[in-house]
Amino acid sequence: MKLGQPLKQLSEFRDMVESALAELSGRRPGRIPQRLWDAMTYSLLAGGKRVRPVLCLLAGKACGAFLPDIIPMAVACEMVHTASLIHDDLPSMDNDNLRRGKPTNHVVFGEPLALLAGDALFLWAFDFARRGLEERGVFSPQSILDAVGELLEASGPFGICGGQVLDSDPQSFSPTDDHPWNVARAKTAVLIRSSVVSGAILGGASGRKRSAFFDFGYHLGTAFQIVDDIIDVTGDESRIGKTPGKDSNQGKMTFVAVFGIEKAKQLAAIETERALEALARIDGDTSELKLFPEILRERSC
Ligand code: IPE
Ligand code: IPE
Ligand code: MG
Ligand code: MG
Ligand code: MG
Repeated sequence: MKLGQPLKQLSEFRDMVESALAELSGRRPGRIPQRLWDAMTYSLLAGGKRVRPVLCLLAGKACGAFLPDIIPMAVACEMVHTASLIHDDLPSMDNDNLRRGKPTNHVVFGEPLALLAGDALFLWAFDFARRGLEERGVFSPQSILDAVGELLEASGPFGICGGQVLDSDPQSFSPTDDHPWNVARAKTAVLIRSSVVSGAILGGASGRKRSAFFDFGYHLGTAFQIVDDIIDVTGDESRIGKTPGKDSNQGKMTFVAVFGIEKAKQLAAIETERALEALARIDGDTSELKLFPEILRERSC
């Protein structure tokens, strides 16, 4: 998987995430079986752009948070995302054998372990965030609950689970132009939004400021999935680190399938513009968050 220039500009924040992931992966809690741990950490350390944890850190930073304080939340966002990818690749789902440039989890560890490694990462994320944030000793119980609650919403029926059903269950397909929007918002945008909003909450944002972060994350997340649908058609394996052409082979109702490539690109640009408009409502240094629309533009070329 290759990273474009604007993402490289965020290497300081990506490095913080990588070190936190490497540190936790190096210390297996004794009660977690070794093979489960191997499967969990295999995918967690397999690379990836780290978009969600970096967004969490940057939203927190824009609100004045001290970054080491919010690392547990950022790591939890990446755990949920990685869990969703392990499940997404399973033979009963998208049946993929390449992820982040490496064999998928079930190819290496077998399907039962991959299923459980996904479950384990999904659930540990909340425990990890709560304990890690409490240990920092600077957050109110309410803000911890609110931040972790955002991630919970994104993981369940209102988010990834619901979105994956709309994406993959033919009986849930709806022959309308709304369908790809509903899929993208639930399976992808809600988690990206929750990564942004949880960081903002921990940075102390409330009211209108929190709602501007919410809108930014939701539009950015929707644009992110539109671009993902585009690169499934235009990308090559070495660049995207996963098998291209899967969506049409599997009859997915993606933005490209429903609207065509050119229109999909326009829709991504419109959503990106909406994300920027929301960002403009935020009082604070959002210069690094402004790189994300650029990251998406660069990725869709
Ligand atoms: C892939 O997400 C799955 C989608 C929700 C589109 P990313 O493109 O962020 O994947 P990684 O984390 O970089 O591997
Ligand atoms: C996955 O969507 C979204 C998740 C919730 C994991 P895709 O199926 O389009 O993701 P890729 O293309 O395999 O990364
Ligand atoms: Mg999928
Ligand atoms: Mg997939
Ligand atoms: Mg895809």
